[in-house]
Amino acid sequence: METILPALRRLRGRHFLTDLDYSREELEDLLTLAVNLKTLWKKRPLTPFLPGHHLAMIFEAASTRTRVSFENGFAELGGNALYLRPGEIHLPGRESIADTARTLSQYNAAIEIRSKSNETVNELAANSSVPVINGMDHDRHPCQSMSDAFTILEYAGSLPGVTFAYVGDAAHPCNSLSTTLAKLGLNVRIGNAAGYEIAPELAKKAAALADENGGSFLLTNDPLEAIAGADFIYTDCWWWTGQEDEYSDRVAAFKAFQVNAELWSHTKPGAKFMHCLPAMRGEEVTDEIADSAASIIFTQAQNRMHFQKALMLALIGIDALPADPDLQAIGKALLA
Ligand code: CP
Repeated sequence: METILPALRRLRGRHFLTDLDYSREELEDLLTLAVNLKTLWKKRPLTPFLPGHHLAMIFEAASTRTRVSFENGFAELGGNALYLRPGEIHLPGRESIADTARTLSQYNAAIEIRSKSNETVNELAANSSVPVINGMDHDRHPCQSMSDAFTILEYAGSLPGVTFAYVGDAAHPCNSLSTTLAKLGLNVRIGNAAGYEIAPELAKKAAALADENGGSFLLTNDPLEAIAGADFIYTDCWWWTGQEDEYSDRVAAFKAFQVNAELWSHTKPGAKFMHCLPAMRGEEVTDEIADSAASIIFTQAQNRMHFQKALMLALIGIDALPADPDLQAIGKALLA
C-alpha cells in the first residue's frame, strides 16, 4: 500500500474524464488501490473512509451497473450518493452546465455524470471545484475500461504481455479499452465490422501508446484474426438507444462477429469471455458463451464497484481516519 502513496496524493482533486489524462503509473496505482480495497471488502464490506461526504450522480441516460456500483460503493465508503435525473434538476434547459457545476460543488465532494455529450462532461468539469468523474459519455467509458483492466489483472496476475481482443461495434467501452489497455502494456486486437471501426485518430493514439508501453495494437475487420491467440475476448452491443433505425444494417454488418460456439472454437484454450453489459443475448453473444465457464461478465460487473471506490477515495482523499484499528492502519498508509 505504501508504494502508491505519492501518486494518490497527486490524484487528489483531479477529474477523471478519460484514461488519456492519466499516466501509466497513475493508472497502475489506481489498480493497486482497487486490488487492496477488494481484498479488504471480502473481510469487511464497510470501509468508511469518507464519512460525511456527498457524491452527486447525474444520469442523462439509463444505467444499472454504473448507478448501483457508484451509489453502493460510496455508501460502503461511508458517504451519501444522490441520484439526479433530468426533470429532477434544472439541467438541461433551465440552468447552465457551468452554474450546475458551481452549485453542486458547494455540497458535494465529487460529481459523477453520465451524459450523451462529451462537451457536457468537459464543461461540467471545467466549472467544478470538486472532482468530476465520467460515468460514460458519447464515446468514452473510462470507468468501464479501468474496471476491466482490474478484472484482467485479477485473472491474468499481471497486465503486460496479456493479449486482449475486442470483437463488435466501436462504441464507448471499445474506444476506452483501446487506449487504457494499450497504455498498460497489453497486446490489443480490435475487430470491428467494416464501416464501424474506431476513429482513425483513436486507433493511431492506441497504436502509439502500445508502442511506448511494450504492447501491440491491431485493428482488423476479421473477427477470427482479432481473437487469434487472445487470452480475453470482449464484445458489446451492436446498436444503441437512438440507433433503432440502423438495426437491420447493424445486425447484418456484425453477424460474423457474434460470440457463439463456432467463433469460440477458434479461441485459445483457457480464454475468458468479457462483456461490459447489458448484453443483447442472441445478438452479439449467445447464452452458451455468456453463461459458460469461460465467462467472467459478472465479475466485471462487481469490479466496477471496487475500481470506482478506489477512484473516489483517490480523487476525494481522506481528511479523518475512522476509529476502527484496522481501518486506521490502512488509512494511515493512505495518508502517510
Ligand atoms: N456497463 C455499464 O456501464 O452498464 P450500465 O449502462 O448499466 O451502467
